[in-house]
Amino acid sequence: MTVTQNPRGLDDPAIRARVEELLVDMTLAEKAGQLTQYFKFNLPEGEGTVGDMPQKRGEVEDALERGEAGSLLFVTDPAETNRLQRLTVEGSRQGIPALFGFDVIHGLRTILPVPIALAASWDPETIERGQAVAAREARAVGIHWTFAPMVDIARDPRWGRIVEGAGEDPYLGSAVAAAQVRGFQGDQLGTPERVVAGPKHFAGYGAAIGGRDYDEVDLSDQQLWNIYLPPFKAAIDAGAGNIMTAYMPLNGVPATGNRWLLTEVLRNQWGFNGFLVSDANAVRNLVTHGFASDLTDAAARAADAGLDLEMAISDPAYAHLPEAVESGAVSIEAVDACVRRILEVKLRLGLFDDPYVDEDHARTVLADPAHRQVAREAAQRSAVLLRNEGTLLPLNAEQLRSVAVLGPLADSKRDTLGPWVFDYNLDETVTVLAGLRDRLGDQAEVRYAPGVRPAQRTFPSMFEMFPGNANPDPEGFDDDAELQRAVELARTSDVAVLVLGEWHGMIGEAASRSSLELPGRQLELLHAVSATGTPVVLLVMNGRPLDLRWAAKNVPAILDIWYPGTQGGAAVADLLLGDVAPGGKLPFTWPRTVGQVPMIYSHTTSFEPQNQGKRYWDEESTPLFPFGHGLSYGTFTYSDLTLSRETVSRDGHLTASITVTNTGDRAGDEVAQLYIHQRHGAAARPVRELKGFQRLHIGAGEARTVQFEIGPDELRYWNAAARDFIVDATTFDVGIGSDSTVQLTATFATTA
Ligand code: BGC
Repeated sequence: MTVTQNPRGLDDPAIRARVEELLVDMTLAEKAGQLTQYFKFNLPEGEGTVGDMPQKRGEVEDALERGEAGSLLFVTDPAETNRLQRLTVEGSRQGIPALFGFDVIHGLRTILPVPIALAASWDPETIERGQAVAAREARAVGIHWTFAPMVDIARDPRWGRIVEGAGEDPYLGSAVAAAQVRGFQGDQLGTPERVVAGPKHFAGYGAAIGGRDYDEVDLSDQQLWNIYLPPFKAAIDAGAGNIMTAYMPLNGVPATGNRWLLTEVLRNQWGFNGFLVSDANAVRNLVTHGFASDLTDAAARAADAGLDLEMAISDPAYAHLPEAVESGAVSIEAVDACVRRILEVKLRLGLFDDPYVDEDHARTVLADPAHRQVAREAAQRSAVLLRNEGTLLPLNAEQLRSVAVLGPLADSKRDTLGPWVFDYNLDETVTVLAGLRDRLGDQAEVRYAPGVRPAQRTFPSMFEMFPGNANPDPEGFDDDAELQRAVELARTSDVAVLVLGEWHGMIGEAASRSSLELPGRQLELLHAVSATGTPVVLLVMNGRPLDLRWAAKNVPAILDIWYPGTQGGAAVADLLLGDVAPGGKLPFTWPRTVGQVPMIYSHTTSFEPQNQGKRYWDEESTPLFPFGHGLSYGTFTYSDLTLSRETVSRDGHLTASITVTNTGDRAGDEVAQLYIHQRHGAAARPVRELKGFQRLHIGAGEARTVQFEIGPDELRYWNAAARDFIVDATTFDVGIGSDSTVQLTATFATTA
């Protein structure tokens, strides 16, 4: 099958002409239809509806045939994509192909580690390669566009969607956002085997009050411009063809009807020329928010704000656009501008020439073993070694006779994959237990006990409507006896590997939590197993920081494996046995307890800074693990920090260089991190801000010198008094090291 490559945009006369030709022939209802995206669930039929959804049976098919469904989401079966596509291409008056979108968040069939894990690799190349695999699989089944990456900054781990992003930092977040866009989309829209990338949720969604998903967001301008918007800007600069709006009101104005956000910032200031989609039902929600008076008003105001496509489950608000145009609530010019952008992307993707997919080809792509190798490497590179006392890790395979693998998550394929996956293959999925058994073969006996039953949410997850997502609750599970059995296995083994964390339904969308404790009786299991005296390796399966205060003092080795994906267990075995060294770093500050959140490394200096670590009287005010923390099997020392200049003009550049030496006796990976601090100026700036990083592989006894460029992009910030980006004439401290606690050891000045 050939995929037509068409990188051109509206500036291409042929595309422009074709768009106008179609537009002039469209009724108002057809225009509104092009601007509508329907969910198409593969759910059992309900009472005249689809599953429990309000969508009526056949609603989508009818709309396609009328030429009134411009786009669909949630179809992943290539035969079904073709069937639906045919309805509109062959059945509708104009035959305009539909655009298929889907949440390809961390893989379609081959599941990569969750996005927060990918971010923890601090390795843009790994991330790009991984998302290119996801794109290839998605495009093969007929998906043209992914609702990813999620580039929302998350500073409150009670918010479950922290797992979908890159954590707390705008610099790391921007690098990860750009890498994902390059991976998904390739060099330009229409690149074969790639999909359109849709960064989301514009903007500020991660700052939900109380960490409660969907709740309102109030952000000062300086927070917006310095923290929350930069990853979007980076994604757009990397070429992202789409942006999704956020659900909630931003500073009182719902994002989906926010003209300032969608048109003034995004299009006018940043020059974004792709198309905008709403989050699911977010246009209808403009009424729920008490913003729009009715659905017609909602449609008019969303279109007027610049929103091109409405994502809807049923009865789209945009079906009221004709009425809104007729009453003058929105201009036909505004609607036509939206329609042009949708037609343009379809033309640029080559859908008019080649609307269908080759089902045999799809099968071949999905089965490609090279994809699983990419997923395995991504999982290896994402893991973060939080603690390794007495170098318990790597385990010495020669000396191991018996291993106890404990905890229900150790043998749960579904949880190994994490949230936000729908089309996975469990047969290909390797759990920690399976990975260790494969790796150790006859060398050591690997015995397993769950120890505790899977914990359950107090309120069920909305994702339980998809098959395979409910957490099993094994019948006849004798809690005390099982705990004892696990302890016994640990007592009679050389090492106990415990996998503890949160079940996949406990993290992700609509998965906010008021606690960060290990759910269920997992901590009790950890205590009891540790009491046996057998060395314990704790593997944490998570997408948010959990309360590991006890473990951080009492468990010798802690490896954060996140939700590591299809090849997760194989990668974990590679890491535990030292075939590869861990080298990931935390993309967020790890608090000790939920009472400390939100907690960030880039705070400002405030009153009595000497007591900043003692603000609470009942707990340290420092994190359990700092942002950027992560160990390896090497030991790294930093020396010879030098700056190429001591003064620089405000638009000038300088280079910082440093030597990193592996003084250990094993090769390892280290991420050298550069932070700056502005001493004084037109605003009080954070104590440290990440402004550069490089992941290095360094052999035992070897040294590497690394260089970082510092220039106006790193030094500028948005100033609330100037109401603009500025670079101050001031003194900057520079520090390079292993994590965000790095001492700031060199200085330079910017001159007026
Ligand atoms: C989420 C989006 C997602 C959409 C479609 C929404 O509920 O907020 O991130 O892309 O559903 O699944």
